[in-house]
Amino acid sequence: MDRKAHWDKAYSGREADSWSWFQGSPTVSLGLIKACGLAFDASIIDVGGGGSTLTGELLGQGFTALSVLDISSTALEKSRERLDAAVAGGVTWIESDITGFSTDDRFDLWHDRAVFHFLTDAGDREKYREILFRHLKPGGFLVVSTFAVDGPKKCSGLDIVGNDAQSLHKALGGDRLQMLESREEEHVTPKGGKQKFIYVRLQRV
Ligand SMILES: C[S@@+](CC[C@H](N)C(=O)[O-])C[C@H]1O[C@@H](n2cnc3c(N)ncnc32)[C@H](O)[C@@H]1O
Repeated sequence: MDRKAHWDKAYSGREADSWSWFQGSPTVSLGLIKACGLAFDASIIDVGGGGSTLTGELLGQGFTALSVLDISSTALEKSRERLDAAVAGGVTWIESDITGFSTDDRFDLWHDRAVFHFLTDAGDREKYREILFRHLKPGGFLVVSTFAVDGPKKCSGLDIVGNDAQSLHKALGGDRLQMLESREEEHVTPKGGKQKFIYVRLQRV
């Protein structure tokens, strides 16, 4: 499966209210990020953040060192368009498959809502972990969310791996990460459907 082609197609010609994952405000993510108590110049990456409103919200709060990574250039464009041009210019936009991502930058916080769960192949999950630990500073925070074990089995027509808080902690790195908290969310899709998510907030030991 060509992942980039899938996601470019998923976004092209469709507005936010037709993306099942879309949130007008990513309330749970924002709450978990706030709980990390980061300074406004902390470096934050939103993995698979194309199309999301999270970066705009964080900019509005005063955060200044934001990166958004997405496999889909169409998704990144949609996020950029939503922001004022001057503000968007201050964000680092990265078009990449997360399983092949590399930069010299190191992050204080790594956010991922509904990307890790698409990695159904054990080799891809291993690559994700390697890349995560290469780029997250010691003491850095992780806020990651997937569908819950009793949530949907597919997202955007693709198979996913659902989790509870313990399995997600283990899948992301186990002992190398301290579990700080977990939260459940029943996401209401723009069309009114319900999807159960699990979120974990972890800290690199
Ligand atoms: C279900 S959407 C979630 C979007 C956003 N995180 C949110 O919560 O609204 C998944 C996003 O991850 C991106 N994506 C999927 N697989 C990816 C991969 N392997 N590497 C990077 N981005 C990926 C998609 O293009 C899409 O924007």
